[in-house]
Amino acid sequence: MKRLYKVETANKLADRVYEYWIRAPQVAQHARAGQFVILRLHEKGERIPLTISAVRGDAVRVIFMAVGKTTEELATLRAGDSISDVVGPLGKPSEIENYGTCCVIGGGVGIASTPLIVKELREAGNHVIGIIGARNADLLILEDEMREACNELYVTTDDGSKGVHGFAADVLKKLLAERKIDRVWIIGPAIMMKVTSGATVPYGVKTYVSLNPIMVDGTGMCGSCRVTVGGETKFACVDGPEFDAHQVDFAELMQRQRIYTGQEKASLERFAE
Ligand code: FES
Repeated sequence: MKRLYKVETANKLADRVYEYWIRAPQVAQHARAGQFVILRLHEKGERIPLTISAVRGDAVRVIFMAVGKTTEELATLRAGDSISDVVGPLGKPSEIENYGTCCVIGGGVGIASTPLIVKELREAGNHVIGIIGARNADLLILEDEMREACNELYVTTDDGSKGVHGFAADVLKKLLAERKIDRVWIIGPAIMMKVTSGATVPYGVKTYVSLNPIMVDGTGMCGSCRVTVGGETKFACVDGPEFDAHQVDFAELMQRQRIYTGQEKASLERFAE
Protein backbone atom coordinates (compact mmCIF):
# COMPACT_ATOMS: atom_id res chain seq x y z
CA MET A 1 0.00 0.00 0.00
CA LYS A 2 1.23 3.46 -0.81
CA ARG A 3 2.46 5.38 2.18
CA LEU A 4 1.00 8.78 2.85
CA TYR A 5 2.58 11.59 4.80
CA LYS A 6 0.26 13.06 7.37
CA VAL A 7 0.06 16.75 8.18
CA GLU A 8 0.32 16.85 11.98
CA THR A 9 -0.30 20.54 12.43
CA ALA A 10 -1.06 23.36 10.03
CA ASN A 11 -0.77 27.00 11.05
CA LYS A 12 -0.93 30.31 9.32
CA LEU A 13 2.03 32.46 10.40
CA ALA A 14 1.40 35.59 8.36
CA ASP A 15 -0.49 36.71 5.29
CA ARG A 16 -0.17 33.80 2.82
CA VAL A 17 2.61 32.19 4.92
CA TYR A 18 1.92 28.73 6.34
CA GLU A 19 3.74 26.40 8.72
CA TYR A 20 3.17 22.65 8.41
CA TRP A 21 4.55 19.86 10.52
CA ILE A 22 4.51 16.72 8.40
CA ARG A 23 5.08 13.22 9.74
CA ALA A 24 7.97 11.81 7.70
CA PRO A 25 10.14 9.61 9.98
CA GLN A 26 12.79 8.74 7.38
CA VAL A 27 13.32 12.39 6.52
CA ALA A 28 13.26 13.55 10.14
CA GLN A 29 15.82 10.96 11.15
CA HIS A 30 18.43 12.10 8.63
CA ALA A 31 17.65 15.80 8.13
CA ARG A 32 20.47 18.29 8.59
CA ALA A 33 20.59 22.07 8.42
CA GLY A 34 20.48 23.44 4.88
CA GLN A 35 18.67 20.46 3.35
CA PHE A 36 15.27 20.37 1.72
CA VAL A 37 12.41 18.08 0.77
CA ILE A 38 10.39 17.83 -2.42
CA LEU A 39 6.68 17.49 -1.87
CA ARG A 40 4.08 16.19 -4.28
CA LEU A 41 0.54 16.62 -3.06
CA HIS A 42 -0.94 13.87 -5.21
CA GLU A 43 0.04 11.75 -8.20
CA LYS A 44 -0.66 14.44 -10.74
CA GLY A 45 0.85 17.15 -8.58
CA GLU A 46 3.78 19.36 -9.38
CA ARG A 47 6.89 18.88 -7.23
CA ILE A 48 7.83 21.68 -4.91
CA PRO A 49 11.11 22.02 -3.05
CA LEU A 50 10.87 23.35 0.52
CA THR A 51 13.64 23.78 3.06
CA ILE A 52 13.49 21.67 6.20
CA SER A 53 12.92 24.34 8.82
CA ALA A 54 12.94 22.21 11.96
CA VAL A 55 12.70 18.61 13.14
CA ARG A 56 10.56 17.32 16.02
CA GLY A 57 10.48 13.58 16.67
CA ASP A 58 9.21 11.92 13.49
CA ALA A 59 8.03 15.16 11.92
CA VAL A 60 9.65 17.88 9.84
CA ARG A 61 8.49 21.45 9.55
CA VAL A 62 8.15 23.29 6.26
CA ILE A 63 7.15 26.92 5.90
CA PHE A 64 5.99 28.33 2.59
CA MET A 65 4.27 31.26 1.00
CA ALA A 66 1.20 30.54 -1.10
CA VAL A 67 2.26 32.16 -4.35
CA GLY A 68 1.40 29.65 -7.08
CA LYS A 69 -0.99 26.86 -7.93
CA THR A 70 0.68 24.12 -5.88
CA THR A 71 1.44 26.24 -2.82
CA GLU A 72 -2.15 27.57 -2.90
CA GLU A 73 -3.36 23.97 -3.04
CA LEU A 74 -0.96 22.93 -0.26
CA ALA A 75 -2.34 25.77 1.88
CA THR A 76 -5.80 24.17 1.74
CA LEU A 77 -4.57 21.11 3.68
CA ARG A 78 -5.41 20.85 7.35
CA ALA A 79 -4.10 18.77 10.24
CA GLY A 80 -4.96 15.13 9.55
CA ASP A 81 -4.79 15.50 5.75
CA SER A 82 -2.09 13.64 3.82
CA ILE A 83 0.51 14.37 1.18
CA SER A 84 1.36 11.75 -1.41
CA ASP A 85 5.18 12.16 -1.51
CA VAL A 86 7.77 13.74 0.74
CA VAL A 87 11.21 13.03 -0.67
CA GLY A 88 14.32 13.92 1.26
CA PRO A 89 16.42 15.03 2.88
CA LEU A 90 17.89 16.38 -0.36
CA GLY A 91 20.88 18.61 -1.03
CA LYS A 92 24.10 19.02 0.88
CA PRO A 93 23.95 19.98 4.54
CA SER A 94 25.30 23.36 5.66
CA GLU A 95 29.04 23.41 6.39
CA ILE A 96 28.77 23.49 10.17
CA GLU A 97 31.95 23.79 12.24
CA ASN A 98 33.12 25.77 15.23
CA TYR A 99 34.08 29.00 13.47
CA GLY A 100 33.70 31.42 16.39
CA THR A 101 31.08 34.09 15.72
CA CYS A 102 28.52 33.45 13.00
CA CYS A 103 25.76 35.58 11.64
CA VAL A 104 22.61 33.90 10.29
CA ILE A 105 20.32 36.15 8.28
CA GLY A 106 16.81 35.42 7.05
CA GLY A 107 14.71 37.64 4.83
CA GLY A 108 10.93 37.21 4.49
CA VAL A 109 9.88 33.59 4.17
CA GLY A 110 13.61 32.75 3.99
CA ILE A 111 13.61 33.12 7.79
CA ALA A 112 12.08 29.61 7.73
CA SER A 113 15.48 28.15 6.84
CA THR A 114 17.39 29.75 9.69
CA PRO A 115 16.41 27.92 12.93
CA LEU A 116 18.02 24.60 12.01
CA ILE A 117 21.25 26.31 10.90
CA VAL A 118 21.36 28.30 14.14
CA LYS A 119 20.71 25.17 16.20
CA GLU A 120 23.56 23.22 14.60
CA LEU A 121 25.96 26.18 14.77
CA ARG A 122 25.21 26.60 18.47
CA GLU A 123 25.68 22.88 19.08
CA ALA A 124 29.09 23.16 17.38
CA GLY A 125 30.07 25.86 19.88
CA ASN A 126 29.56 29.06 17.87
CA HIS A 127 28.28 32.39 19.13
CA VAL A 128 25.35 33.04 16.79
CA ILE A 129 23.95 36.43 15.89
CA GLY A 130 20.61 36.28 14.08
CA ILE A 131 19.20 38.98 11.84
CA ILE A 132 15.65 38.52 10.59
CA GLY A 133 13.95 40.99 8.32
CA ALA A 134 10.63 41.45 6.56
CA ARG A 135 8.78 44.13 4.64
CA ASN A 136 6.69 44.94 7.72
CA ALA A 137 5.94 43.65 11.23
CA ASP A 138 2.96 41.55 10.05
CA LEU A 139 5.17 39.54 7.69
CA LEU A 140 7.88 38.83 10.26
CA ILE A 141 7.90 35.14 11.21
CA LEU A 142 9.60 33.02 13.90
CA GLU A 143 10.78 35.98 15.97
CA ASP A 144 10.28 34.31 19.38
CA GLU A 145 11.84 31.07 18.21
CA MET A 146 14.89 32.83 16.78
CA ARG A 147 15.27 35.01 19.89
CA GLU A 148 15.48 31.85 21.93
CA ALA A 149 17.76 30.02 19.49
CA CYS A 150 20.34 32.77 18.88
CA ASN A 151 22.78 34.39 21.31
CA GLU A 152 21.68 37.76 19.94
CA LEU A 153 18.88 38.69 17.57
CA TYR A 154 18.27 41.78 15.47
CA VAL A 155 14.96 42.48 13.76
CA THR A 156 14.56 44.75 10.75
CA THR A 157 11.55 45.91 8.76
CA ASP A 158 11.60 47.82 5.50
CA ASP A 159 8.92 50.21 6.77
CA GLY A 160 10.16 50.56 10.36
CA SER A 161 7.02 48.98 11.86
CA LYS A 162 9.24 46.77 14.05
CA GLY A 163 12.90 46.72 15.07
CA VAL A 164 15.48 48.53 12.98
CA HIS A 165 14.00 50.58 10.15
CA GLY A 166 15.93 49.29 7.14
CA PHE A 167 17.42 46.12 5.76
CA ALA A 168 19.37 43.20 7.20
CA ALA A 169 22.35 44.45 5.18
CA ASP A 170 22.39 47.66 7.24
CA VAL A 171 22.67 45.74 10.51
CA LEU A 172 25.26 43.39 9.04
CA LYS A 173 27.43 46.29 7.85
CA LYS A 174 27.37 47.82 11.33
CA LEU A 175 28.27 44.53 12.97
CA LEU A 176 31.14 43.91 10.54
CA ALA A 177 32.55 47.36 11.29
CA GLU A 178 32.40 46.77 15.05
CA ARG A 179 33.45 43.19 15.60
CA LYS A 180 34.93 40.08 14.09
CA ILE A 181 32.44 37.86 12.31
CA ASP A 182 33.79 34.53 11.07
CA ARG A 183 30.99 33.16 8.86
CA VAL A 184 27.71 34.47 7.48
CA TRP A 185 24.61 32.67 6.18
CA ILE A 186 21.98 34.57 4.19
CA ILE A 187 18.67 33.07 3.10
CA GLY A 188 15.98 35.08 1.37
CA PRO A 189 14.91 36.39 -2.02
CA ALA A 190 17.71 36.38 -4.62
CA ILE A 191 18.00 40.16 -4.74
CA MET A 192 18.23 40.35 -0.94
CA MET A 193 20.96 37.66 -0.87
CA LYS A 194 22.88 39.47 -3.61
CA VAL A 195 22.77 42.85 -1.86
CA THR A 196 23.36 41.53 1.67
CA SER A 197 26.28 39.32 0.69
CA GLY A 198 27.94 42.35 -0.89
CA ALA A 199 28.48 43.67 2.65
CA THR A 200 30.91 40.89 3.55
CA VAL A 201 33.10 41.22 0.44
CA PRO A 202 35.38 43.99 1.82
CA TYR A 203 35.93 41.97 4.99
CA GLY A 204 36.67 38.70 3.18
CA VAL A 205 34.17 36.85 5.39
CA LYS A 206 33.03 33.57 3.89
CA THR A 207 29.32 33.88 3.21
CA TYR A 208 26.83 31.21 2.26
CA VAL A 209 23.56 31.72 0.45
CA SER A 210 20.87 29.12 -0.13
CA LEU A 211 19.79 29.27 -3.75
CA ASN A 212 16.21 28.69 -4.80
CA PRO A 213 16.14 28.11 -8.56
CA ILE A 214 13.32 26.20 -10.23
CA MET A 215 13.66 22.50 -9.39
CA VAL A 216 11.95 19.47 -10.89
CA ASP A 217 13.48 16.12 -9.92
CA GLY A 218 15.81 17.28 -7.14
CA THR A 219 18.33 14.57 -7.96
CA GLY A 220 20.63 16.20 -10.51
CA MET A 221 18.97 14.64 -13.56
CA CYS A 222 16.84 17.33 -15.18
CA GLY A 223 19.14 20.36 -15.13
CA SER A 224 16.40 22.83 -14.33
CA CYS A 225 18.14 24.04 -11.16
CA ARG A 226 21.33 24.97 -13.06
CA VAL A 227 23.24 27.87 -11.51
CA THR A 228 26.66 29.37 -12.19
CA VAL A 229 29.04 29.51 -9.24
CA GLY A 230 32.65 30.62 -9.68
CA GLY A 231 32.19 30.40 -13.46
CA GLU A 232 31.17 26.74 -13.26
CA THR A 233 27.77 25.18 -13.84
CA LYS A 234 26.34 23.62 -10.70
CA PHE A 235 23.05 21.95 -9.89
CA ALA A 236 21.54 23.54 -6.79
CA CYS A 237 19.72 20.34 -5.83
CA VAL A 238 22.81 18.15 -5.52
CA ASP A 239 25.79 20.55 -5.40
CA GLY A 240 23.92 22.99 -3.12
CA PRO A 241 21.54 24.53 -2.30
CA GLU A 242 24.13 26.46 -0.26
CA PHE A 243 26.98 28.08 -2.15
CA ASP A 244 29.70 30.67 -1.59
CA ALA A 245 27.76 33.92 -2.04
CA HIS A 246 30.74 35.77 -3.50
CA GLN A 247 30.95 33.29 -6.38
CA VAL A 248 27.26 33.16 -7.36
CA ASP A 249 26.01 34.64 -10.63
CA PHE A 250 22.88 36.25 -9.15
CA ALA A 251 21.87 38.00 -12.40
CA GLU A 252 21.56 34.64 -14.15
CA LEU A 253 19.72 33.11 -11.17
CA MET A 254 17.13 35.89 -11.18
CA GLN A 255 16.70 35.70 -14.93
CA ARG A 256 16.16 31.92 -14.82
CA GLN A 257 13.69 32.20 -11.91
CA ARG A 258 11.46 34.31 -14.18
CA ILE A 259 11.41 31.84 -17.12
CA TYR A 260 8.01 30.34 -16.32
CA THR A 261 6.28 33.39 -14.86
CA GLY A 262 3.62 33.39 -17.62
CA GLN A 263 2.83 29.68 -17.30
CA GLU A 264 2.80 29.89 -13.49
CA LYS A 265 0.29 32.73 -13.60
CA ALA A 266 -1.98 30.86 -16.04
CA SER A 267 -1.83 27.71 -13.90
CA LEU A 268 -2.73 29.64 -10.75
CA GLU A 269 -5.66 31.29 -12.53
CA ARG A 270 -6.95 27.87 -13.67
CA PHE A 271 -6.69 26.55 -10.08
CA ALA A 272 -8.58 29.56 -8.71
CA GLU A 273 -11.48 29.17 -11.19
FE1 FES B 1 16.70 18.67 -11.64
FE2 FES B 1 18.33 19.82 -9.91
S1 FES B 1 16.17 19.81 -9.90
S2 FES B 1 18.85 18.76 -11.71
